[in-house]
Amino acid sequence: MKTVYTIKEVRENIKEWKKQGLTIGLVPTMGYLHEGHKSLIERAAKENDRVVVSDFVNPIQFGPKEDLAVYPKDLKRDEAVCVAGGTSLLFNPEPSEMYFKDAETYVNVDKITEVLCGARRPGHFRGVCTVVSKLFNIVKPDRAYFGEKDAQQLAVIKRMVRDLNFDIEIVGCPIVREADGLAKSSRNTYLTDEERSAAVVLSLSLKKARVALENGERNADKLIEIIKCEIEKEPLSKIDYVEIVDSENLKKVSVINKSVLIAIAVYVGKTRLIDNFTWR
Ligand code: PAF
Repeated sequence: MKTVYTIKEVRENIKEWKKQGLTIGLVPTMGYLHEGHKSLIERAAKENDRVVVSDFVNPIQFGPKEDLAVYPKDLKRDEAVCVAGGTSLLFNPEPSEMYFKDAETYVNVDKITEVLCGARRPGHFRGVCTVVSKLFNIVKPDRAYFGEKDAQQLAVIKRMVRDLNFDIEIVGCPIVREADGLAKSSRNTYLTDEERSAAVVLSLSLKKARVALENGERNADKLIEIIKCEIEKEPLSKIDYVEIVDSENLKKVSVINKSVLIAIAVYVGKTRLIDNFTWR
């Protein structure tokens, strides 16, 4: 595996691979890679001849009060995960490599970015869509891999790819969890030991909703109440949102009679965690 830092180096490798008729899978990340990322890389390695992982903490998707300055970084650890997963090229650019100082072009997806996390993080998805579009243009992958933990991000990217005619297959990959159910996330490192134990409440609350669904409950408000009730039992938690939405257009639903996304965002201490599941 090679680690490269410039767009020029990425393009040289891609050009060579395309000449040989090889397929390319892209796994966009912000680094501090964990088992969740590794599962995306492994899937990409299975389905493509070459895998490119981008490792870039994208400044323009963070709000002014968010964790950009403290976002964890460890290139050596990332390189080890990439090698283990079957990566060919790791792209680790500086912000100055990715953005012109006087850039004036951004990619904005409208309605489905205005709900859930997008409603609470203004500008976040504009930053995500802009950097992902740039990565698509730099790497020109056949397929790109995203985790289902960021369910709204996945839906937004799919919409962007459809609307802008990117000739790229978007592959969503299942959430990878810790033994107690907590969804793996680079942000879990912010949790104290006490908060880490408390954080299990996210997956527990979703499990309760799943059981209610399995027992025939189809009223969204009742399911939301079940989830909220469980989360509120944990004193270190504070609900940001609990919502049930159409899994494609992310519009709220009141009766569950089609595929829905059940999504939550919860502060545990100061750390905002998300989790979800899709009910089909
Ligand atoms: O999911 C992430 O890590 C980021 O939002 C992404 C897709 C790499 C864009 O910066």
